[in-house]
Amino acid sequence: MGAHIATMAGGADPYGSIPNAALAVKGESIAWIGRAEEAMRAASARNIPQHDVRGRWMTPGLIDCHTHLVYGGNRVAEYERRLGGATYEEIARAGGGIQSTVRATRAASADELRVSALRRARRLMSEGVTTIEIKSGYGLDLGAERRMLEVARGLGRELPVSVRTTYLGLHALPEEYRDDRRGFVDAASGPWLEAIAAAGLADAVDAFCESIAFTVGETEQFLAAAKRLGLPSHVHAGQLRDVGAAELAARYGALSADHLECLSAAGTEALARSGTVAVLLPCAYFMLRQTAPPPVALLRAAAVPLAVATDCNPGTSPCTSILLALAMACTSFGLTPEEALGGATRNAARALGLAADRGTLEVGKRADFALWDIDRPAELCYALGANPCAGVVYGGRLRNDS
Ligand code: NIG
Ligand code: FE
Repeated sequence: MGAHIATMAGGADPYGSIPNAALAVKGESIAWIGRAEEAMRAASARNIPQHDVRGRWMTPGLIDCHTHLVYGGNRVAEYERRLGGATYEEIARAGGGIQSTVRATRAASADELRVSALRRARRLMSEGVTTIEIKSGYGLDLGAERRMLEVARGLGRELPVSVRTTYLGLHALPEEYRDDRRGFVDAASGPWLEAIAAAGLADAVDAFCESIAFTVGETEQFLAAAKRLGLPSHVHAGQLRDVGAAELAARYGALSADHLECLSAAGTEALARSGTVAVLLPCAYFMLRQTAPPPVALLRAAAVPLAVATDCNPGTSPCTSILLALAMACTSFGLTPEEALGGATRNAARALGLAADRGTLEVGKRADFALWDIDRPAELCYALGANPCAGVVYGGRLRNDS
């Protein structure tokens, strides 16, 4: 008996599924996909090793395309204050929030950052995640930003998971620049960005374009500088207010615009025209007790590709479960299970600029896949808090490092 393969590659069947199927791997890539009987005959004739996956479901390796996985400390005390009625914005304006994680991250050694991030990465991997995007943004000076990105790159060497790094240069205004916004934006968009790009530490950039963070003008300066260096961009857009960040992201051809609880029809159209992926982050929405979800029906009607990610971070989403994010995307945001799974595979790959290489199970793509003890794919969104993952293959290799 072979696998039921959810290729997520489109086509007539839901989930692009192929029943009783098999997949052949050569090196790090998928060499063949088709019916199990055919594969078994060909493999036996040629003495190719076979693995019977006993009727399990197989999906592409999951891709968490938005995390802040590397950080110092935690924000559980802030969580308690928010439960007591304080808002995220109030805490941020009073110098807590992101600033408190900046203090803890600057104080942490590279090894301390590495050890806590490893734990979080392994939890994601245990649920079939084979690619993780990791942002900086809690250093906010060149040395500490570099350290975060180096730790993130190191995780990718230490673990079988693929890591993509993002320089989140504009996340918050650090204390030492309180009276010099211009100086900070100039540094982050100038010499710091150049040094990080020259060291090959970032695959992309990101900015928090928001009422409590950076303006459209400041974000534009940063994105323009990144573009000149050939670095693609993501934008944290419309999490708390609509300041026009989605339109800016679209204007710069950003790979993704993320959050989008506050998004107008014009912003949606702009994303559709630029092909920018809308990355939905339902765990942050839940933790901030927001009540107005992103305009999913508008996004869907405009054919904006939808991705789903954990947003793993100490403030708004201390979540290391991609399956929980998928469940919340369905229940809180109204995605179908097929859209949610597509959001952590095909469209997450696109949000990272990796669609040619991964995100679906197709011949020629990277052999990253997960095996599941489930009866049907929707169970990945349904079995709240359970982990039905029965195995993960990274680039053709079955590994148990999670
Ligand atoms: O994606 N919104 C900005 N950045 C993170 C939260 C960062 C924090 O609160 O530490 C987010 O929600
Ligand atoms: Fe984020």
